[in-house]
Amino acid sequence: MFDHQAFDDHERVVHLYDAASGLRAIIALHSTILGPAAGGCRLWTYANEEAALTDVLRLSRGMSYKNALANLPMGGGKAVILGPVAPERRRDVFLAFGDAVDDLAGLYVTAEDVGVGVADMDIVASRTRFVSGRSAGIGRAGGDPSPYTARGVRIGIEAALKYRLGRDDLKGVRVAVQGLGGVGSHLCRELHERGAELVVADIAAERIEKMCALYGATPAPIGEILLADVDVAAPCALGAIITEEVASRMKAPILAGSANNQLANAAVGTVLQTRDIAYVPDYLINAGGIIAACAEYFGQNDVVRVESAIAEIGPRTLWVLQQSKAENWSSQEIADETARGIIDGACHKARQEKTVQRSVM
Ligand code: NAI
Repeated sequence: MFDHQAFDDHERVVHLYDAASGLRAIIALHSTILGPAAGGCRLWTYANEEAALTDVLRLSRGMSYKNALANLPMGGGKAVILGPVAPERRRDVFLAFGDAVDDLAGLYVTAEDVGVGVADMDIVASRTRFVSGRSAGIGRAGGDPSPYTARGVRIGIEAALKYRLGRDDLKGVRVAVQGLGGVGSHLCRELHERGAELVVADIAAERIEKMCALYGATPAPIGEILLADVDVAAPCALGAIITEEVASRMKAPILAGSANNQLANAAVGTVLQTRDIAYVPDYLINAGGIIAACAEYFGQNDVVRVESAIAEIGPRTLWVLQQSKAENWSSQEIADETARGIIDGACHKARQEKTVQRSVM
């Protein structure tokens, strides 16, 4: 594993097997320098175990960067449960997963991710307190992170519009939304309420119909949505969808959506920059959900407080885009470098404190 192409000095990688429930899972703790490694649990049917390991290594590193950039007192981690999980075994699988999270004694804090819902986290919470994303109380943030993620994406889009097009509001702004699930559907609502015009695509026809009926959205073919002639392209479905080819054909001057790992490779960031397409790095703009989850975990989840933390995504977006221009680096490089700087700075401080403690002894 130490030679794995996605291994990035991860602190700990735990493989889990529970014969009674059939749980097969991997938990990767990338960094606990800033706090407990926080990141969701994904339930996915991978082609093989190698694909699951690659996913969890990449995603956990992404969480370290996301949490650092969002100024959260959290490191980065992630869990993947290898599917499929039969419906009748689901409860036992999540109970066993909860036990495994508890064994890590607070080094890892879990929550929901793709394929995992609030009901699953409620089951996990019956076995460990190191969990977030449980059913939310009235007036408290928590539970399903999608609405918070969508809010952050809308705020990031507004900042990018200001930067790239000098726009102060969303009235008449055309946004193409790819993927109308948890985040995409809430994003459509946020944008529609502020006067934006929506172009949408999803592989599920009923989701398209719903957005058209509720918000007057216009459907676009699946293969064309990111190339649409709009002001903003917002990928909210899959990762690795912005290839060099897509980046070189896009018409939108702004790329800003929730999907994790949007850029197929690092060279895509440069193509976007060369074409003056303002790309808001995914883990910067999609941090609303983890901000809410973190607040829930620390019991500081009154909605007003969480919303003001999510509002910070706006100035942060503006700063990254401005730095990208000033330093002639892609926005992805600026975000990565800044996040790494925060983590390395904390690491350095921790080492210094250890040295002082030793010299006092
Ligand atoms: P979801 O599973 O609820 O929705 C995804 C939607 O994309 C579904 O409606 C699906 O039918 C559609 N879709 C799948 N393939 C497609 C394709 N080829 N073209 C068009 N649509 C397609 O997922 P969710 O929670 O809305 O997340 C969306 C993205 O945002 C994911 O990449 C996720 O990792 C990321 N994200 C989500 C967060 C959250 O709070 N839910 C937080 C941070 C990132």
